[in-house]
Amino acid sequence: MTFPAHRPRRLRATPAMRRLVAETRLHPAELILPMFVREGIDDPVPVSSMPGVVQHSLDSFRRALHEAAEAGIGGVMLFGVPEEKDAVGSGATDEFGILNVATRLAAAEVGDALVVQTDLCLDEFTDHGHCGVLDPEGRIDNDATLVRYREMGLAQAAAGSAMLGLSGMMDGQVAAVRDALDGAGFSDTAILGYAAKYASAFYGPFREAVGSSLQGDRKTYQQDPANRREGLHEAALDLDEGADAVMVKPAMSFLDVLADVAAMSDVPVWAYQVSGEYAMVEAAAANGWIDRERAIIESIIGIRRAGADAVLTYWAVEAAAMLKEGE
Ligand code: PBG
Repeated sequence: MTFPAHRPRRLRATPAMRRLVAETRLHPAELILPMFVREGIDDPVPVSSMPGVVQHSLDSFRRALHEAAEAGIGGVMLFGVPEEKDAVGSGATDEFGILNVATRLAAAEVGDALVVQTDLCLDEFTDHGHCGVLDPEGRIDNDATLVRYREMGLAQAAAGSAMLGLSGMMDGQVAAVRDALDGAGFSDTAILGYAAKYASAFYGPFREAVGSSLQGDRKTYQQDPANRREGLHEAALDLDEGADAVMVKPAMSFLDVLADVAAMSDVPVWAYQVSGEYAMVEAAAANGWIDRERAIIESIIGIRRAGADAVLTYWAVEAAAMLKEGE
């Protein structure tokens, strides 16, 4: 009788042993909650394609911020849903625009406990729904958009955002916004570069969440899902331009890109578990096809294992509670 020389199962034999040898752990501080705040509503409005997620009124937003702080998560990422839109996204730079109002409120209410971050992109504010401004032929005007991003960065920093999430995928956006911030004395405001952001089908439910006006697609600025090396190129540029952290987005279908970026980055690398990733698990769980809580934790830990230091996820507060229970 010969015996197996190696028995990896020994380290899986008991809960205590498995707990001791776990290579990846999740901590609430590594979770960031994306939140939607809508102008002109008194009660929160459910996002039908994202069960459990709402467009907040300012009141429900305030309550949710305190819940997030109590849950011990690391931060929030704010998105505004304005009542009015125009070609240049004026609401994004108006100090009384919904995102800037929400940012001031968040900074005042929970700014000590949570890192208050803001989405810096024009798509929620433009009537055509693109992330930038258009030239007379209707094409995205990269460099004219950078001027708007500089203005938007200043408005968000003035409102008290601690970290600007540059999600528009314009060339040179990190350098442009850094220059604007430094020139106005906002040298402590950090920049999160959405280094590798892909043109993804998994943003579908988000478009409902922000009431997007987009016709067509974003394929001239967001990356082609076929490209891995290009993700590294984008990340290297963002680091060179002074990003304080970089992001890979979406997470699940780009875990190889995430691992590559994590291997080369000398700043924190985050990943965004996007709306479609959330919706898939919720829909399958609602049908009784998967174990919801296990799927949530497995999906987030997979993103951590691939190399993310922190994860943006719509389950941030609930996952933090699950982690506490599991302790
Ligand atoms: C752009 C932005 C998008 C998301 C975050 N920031 C939409 C897009 O690029 O089309 C998607 C997030 C998600 O799907 O959860 N402002």
